[in-house]
Amino acid sequence: DKGGHKHFMAKEIAEQPHVIAEAIRHYLPVEEDAVRLPGGGVDFSGVERLTMVACGTAYYACVTAKYWFEQIARLPVEVDIASEFRYREPPIPGKTLALFVSQSGETADTLAALRYCQEKADKILSVVNVSESSIARESDLALPIFAGPEIGVASTKAFTCQLTVLLALALKAACDRGHLSAEGMAEYATAIRGLPNVLSSALEQNDAIRLAAQKVSEARDVLFLGRGLMFPLALEGALKLKEISYIHAEAYASGELKHGPIALIDKNMPVVVLTPKDALFDKSVSNMQEVLARKGKVLMISDQNGIDEAGDDVWCAIRMPRVKEALTPILYAIPAQLLAYHTAVAKGTDVDQPRNLAKSVTVE
Ligand code: M6R
Repeated sequence: DKGGHKHFMAKEIAEQPHVIAEAIRHYLPVEEDAVRLPGGGVDFSGVERLTMVACGTAYYACVTAKYWFEQIARLPVEVDIASEFRYREPPIPGKTLALFVSQSGETADTLAALRYCQEKADKILSVVNVSESSIARESDLALPIFAGPEIGVASTKAFTCQLTVLLALALKAACDRGHLSAEGMAEYATAIRGLPNVLSSALEQNDAIRLAAQKVSEARDVLFLGRGLMFPLALEGALKLKEISYIHAEAYASGELKHGPIALIDKNMPVVVLTPKDALFDKSVSNMQEVLARKGKVLMISDQNGIDEAGDDVWCAIRMPRVKEALTPILYAIPAQLLAYHTAVAKGTDVDQPRNLAKSVTVE
């Protein structure tokens, strides 16, 4: 049942305020300003290293979480793609916590990577949507994301729910390791509880994004740029666009622009710049100006302050609400998903069942 939407993907994008609220209810119950984990939970105080492994969109959720765990919890993190990790035979030092993220819980490479870590890591954690899955069963602690069934091949609500759970976990780690005061934690909890409303207002940009997508649908290649927490989101935005619209899309950390990809910029190249007015805004804008100077078509996704300050010469600007900096990836996922969706619809591709792809990759 598509609930009145044209595609499952549209329905699943629209469901995000609701499913995220569900995840928040479980991990940050209102009666306490602390993270609550299922089962025996996990204590991060003695953990020396976190290894996160996944594929595709789940991998980009891990790359985002690396920034959180490092910055908020001061925990060293390694992130890897499951198909590389499993054959590399990486050493797993003692006091390592291994974390596997998978919507389906059945991805063959992720499961193999998990099995590689059994007996080596101190503890195996998973973040899954399907609680009865192999990955959930074979881990010491499975953290459900409460996204509900995801039918569209392009992962949307699972991604933002994965991010929400991973952020809660990073906050738990920060508290356990003495890097976050009760006051700081309460501040995060309040901001996170505001997310469902914030995501709803991001969804109101649907029409503006549909218009931008009309133009993007004519492009052959699209570049996504972001810095800090917006870099993994740029990767996710590019994946989403290529998988359902079949437009070639690539993402770069903005600072890498002049190390190669700037050679691609011309008047035919749409460049999606993800840049909330955060600590890295000025850096990001100076990269954006390098694109504008070469007549690149900039689609700027920012907040009102960011657009007021730097949005004058852009091709198109999409306005997001303002949130606490750590939460921006969860919010900016919405315009990235909507842009891919409307571009695919404009091109007339099979949005829910893109060619050559399966929802769950159970063979390598
Ligand atoms: O079920 P999983 O989360 O383990 O799946 C991982 C990837 O196959 C998946 O995220 C894939 O990249 C999506 N089609 C992306 O939209």
